[in-house]
Amino acid sequence: MEPIIATQDLKKIFRVGKVEVPALRGVDLVAQEGEFLAVVGPSGCGKSTLLHVLGGLTSPTSGSVFVDGNDFSTMTDSDRTRFRRHKIGFVFQRFNLLPTLTARQNINIAQHIQGNGYNPHRFDAVVDMLGIREKLEYKPYALSGGEQQRVAIARAVICEPKILLADEPTGNLDTENSQVVLNMIRALNRSFRQTILMITHNPEAAAVADRVVRMRDGRIVSD
Ligand SMILES: Nc1ncnc2c1ncn2[C@@H]1O[C@H](COP(=O)(O)OP(=O)(O)OP(=O)(O)O)[C@@H](O)[C@H]1O
Ligand SMILES: [Mg+2]
Repeated sequence: MEPIIATQDLKKIFRVGKVEVPALRGVDLVAQEGEFLAVVGPSGCGKSTLLHVLGGLTSPTSGSVFVDGNDFSTMTDSDRTRFRRHKIGFVFQRFNLLPTLTARQNINIAQHIQGNGYNPHRFDAVVDMLGIREKLEYKPYALSGGEQQRVAIARAVICEPKILLADEPTGNLDTENSQVVLNMIRALNRSFRQTILMITHNPEAAAVADRVVRMRDGRIVSD
């Protein structure tokens, strides 16, 4: 079986004026469809950069990235954008909900952008799994942090992306809400066989994953 994610000698060097900042120094990562990976490591070791490259938000400096059979290096920017909308869901530490829209509208906007229209079955399945049905008409200011993050997860997965990329999804949550959000992510992985790559500083979060990938100084040091 072909892996859903495969990188080879992936490097990313940021240039800030004359200074070069090597964020990724040769990452080889392979993930199979349906796997749940936690990515851990000290601040600045390149975790978010890796996630952004895998999601097509940032281009690598060198090395290859294959996601779901697509070679990023041969894709144009607009191909990559289209690919991202259809195949990848993102969840960030800050919930990034649009403040003037209700929870329902925030979730639906993803389907609207993707252009596949509203799928009521998927909407119901995701909303019920995440336990946010009673909160759908609320705007973000009236939701707790955990609820906002569950809405953000709903938005990320509503279009049935094959891959969910989450950057410290529990980073702004208390222990109880973290546990709820983690259970939801785990359930998505189990029920929809969604491949998940989750960056975390939280040992409990890493413990729910199938695999823990440790990074340091732009490299994977254990897997
Ligand atoms: N746009 C950028 N321009 C310049 N340097 C950057 C940029 N983005 C990241 N870096 C640098 O690349 C390195 C890796 O950053 P990255 O955000 O991937 O770390 P991280 O592992 O996610 O850290 P944290 O746990 O603090 O979020 C850091 O040294 C950072 O300063
Ligand atoms: Mg980061």
